[in-house]
Amino acid sequence: MTRRRITALTIVGAACYAAWDCLHLLAAYNVYLVGVPLEPSMVKGRVFQDAWNLLFFGATAISVALTLNIRNSRWGYWINLWVTSLADSGLIFFVLIPGYWSWWPGLAGPVLWGLGFTFTTLAYVREKLVRCGTRSYTQEQIDDSKNSPDWFPHMHPPMPSVVAQGTATFACGSCHLPTGTGHDESAYLASIPAPYIVNQTAKL
Ligand code: HEC
Repeated sequence: MTRRRITALTIVGAACYAAWDCLHLLAAYNVYLVGVPLEPSMVKGRVFQDAWNLLFFGATAISVALTLNIRNSRWGYWINLWVTSLADSGLIFFVLIPGYWSWWPGLAGPVLWGLGFTFTTLAYVREKLVRCGTRSYTQEQIDDSKNSPDWFPHMHPPMPSVVAQGTATFACGSCHLPTGTGHDESAYLASIPAPYIVNQTAKL
C-alpha cells in the first residue's frame, strides 16, 4: 500500500475543487429561486430537479476534494475529474454557448474546474515520478563500488560519505543501497540499530 502524501499541490488542487463546489451550491440555490415563481408544472419540477442535481454535484466535489484529493488519492482524482467535467459541460453546452448567460461570470466554474484539474494532475504526476525514480545510471555507474547509485534520494536521510563513496573500503551503499534494502545477495540493513551495525562491521 503506497502512502499518499498531503503536499502544497494537493492542497491547492483540493481548494480549487472546493471553491468550484461553493459556486455550485450557490448555483443550486439560484436555480431553486428560478423555480419558485413558476406555475406548478413539469417545467417547475424539472427546474427544482436541476437545483437538486447541482447541489449533489457540489456536495460530491467538496467531499471528494477534502477527503481524497487532498491526500492525492487516485480514486479521488478520477471521481472529481469526471463529476466536475460532466457538470461543467452541461453549463457550457446548454447555458453559455446558446448565450443565456454572459461568459463572465459564467466561466468562473469552468476556470476553477481547469485549475483543480491542473493542480491535482501535477500532484498526481509528481508523486508518480518520485515513486518511480527520476534518475538513471549506466551499468558502469551502477557497478562503480566507490559511488552508490541513488535512485530514490527522497527515501533516505543524507548519506554519510562512507555509505555514498566509501573510504578505504567500497561504498556501503554500492552493495546495501542508500536505502539499506540491498541487492538480493547483500544483507538487508534498513532499520537495523546503529550499535548492531557498528558491532558487525567491527567483527567482519
Ligand atoms: C561488496 C559488497 C558490500 C559492501 C561494499 C558492504 N557490504 Fe555489508 N554486507 C555485504 C554482504 C554480502 C553481507 C551479508 C554477509 C553474510 O550474510 O554472510 C553484508 C552484511 C553486512 C552486515 C550484517 C547484517 C546482518 O544482518 O547481520 C552489516 C552490519 C553490514 N554488511 C554493514 C556494512 C557497512 C557499514 C558497509 C560499509 C562500510 C558495508 N556493509 C559494505 C556486502 C557488502
